[in-house]
Amino acid sequence: MKKGAQLYEGKAKKVFLTDDPEVLMVDYKDDATAFNGEKKGTIAEKGIINNRLTNHFMKMLEENGIPTHYIEEISDRETLVKKVSIIPLEVIVRNIAAGSFSKRYGVEEGKSLLSPTLEFSYKNDDLGDPLINEYHIIALGLATREELDIVSEYTFKINDILKNYLIKFGIELVDFKIEFGKTSDGTIVLADEISPDTCRFWDSKTHEKLDKDRFRRDMGGVEDAYWEIMKRILGESK
Ligand code: TMP
Repeated sequence: MKKGAQLYEGKAKKVFLTDDPEVLMVDYKDDATAFNGEKKGTIAEKGIINNRLTNHFMKMLEENGIPTHYIEEISDRETLVKKVSIIPLEVIVRNIAAGSFSKRYGVEEGKSLLSPTLEFSYKNDDLGDPLINEYHIIALGLATREELDIVSEYTFKINDILKNYLIKFGIELVDFKIEFGKTSDGTIVLADEISPDTCRFWDSKTHEKLDKDRFRRDMGGVEDAYWEIMKRILGESK
């Protein structure tokens, strides 16, 4: 499959056309941003780690009945995916209080939640990705009731599958953000990435942070944390 013109450049990935109109190529960058692009930096080899881990998770989820956009890994940083129109929602699940949830509700980071929570943010950089509820989503035409039901069902299943998978590697899935897209025939599939950029991963014994919070919060040891996840899950070291 030939890499064609660049279609789009996001904060962490570039997307290219291919010679198949139904297929795109994603190219993962080392660029890191936080707080809606206010904080900028790079995390060495993040693009490789996020590409490889995302594909690993997507394959595992497919095997467990979740449709995804994944087609084929082409190189360390490049992957073929189905062309989808992204539903402009950040779909966030939380198992343990952290981040904006802890801040908003005055809950200590690390407190286990009685049940997993689901929330949506409206993907809109100009507005800073505001929290949005299901009535707002439907009223604005961002997704239909039926689409939201499918997204919610897949999302809780993904949480169960990922949480149980990661705990075997001593990793606690604190929370994560996923995105969904629609293929040309209207099928809803998991899209975007699942990586230390988009999940909170804590060591299940020490609760050490092994994710992008180390970058967001200037904690140091960012690359080592990403490599630790890579080593535990894919058995690969720097
Ligand atoms: P939050 O606690 O800051 O709302 O983040 C919840 C989860 O979503 C966390 O795992 C990090 C992830 N996330 C993204 O992937 N992209 C974002 O822009 C933000 C704010 C969070």
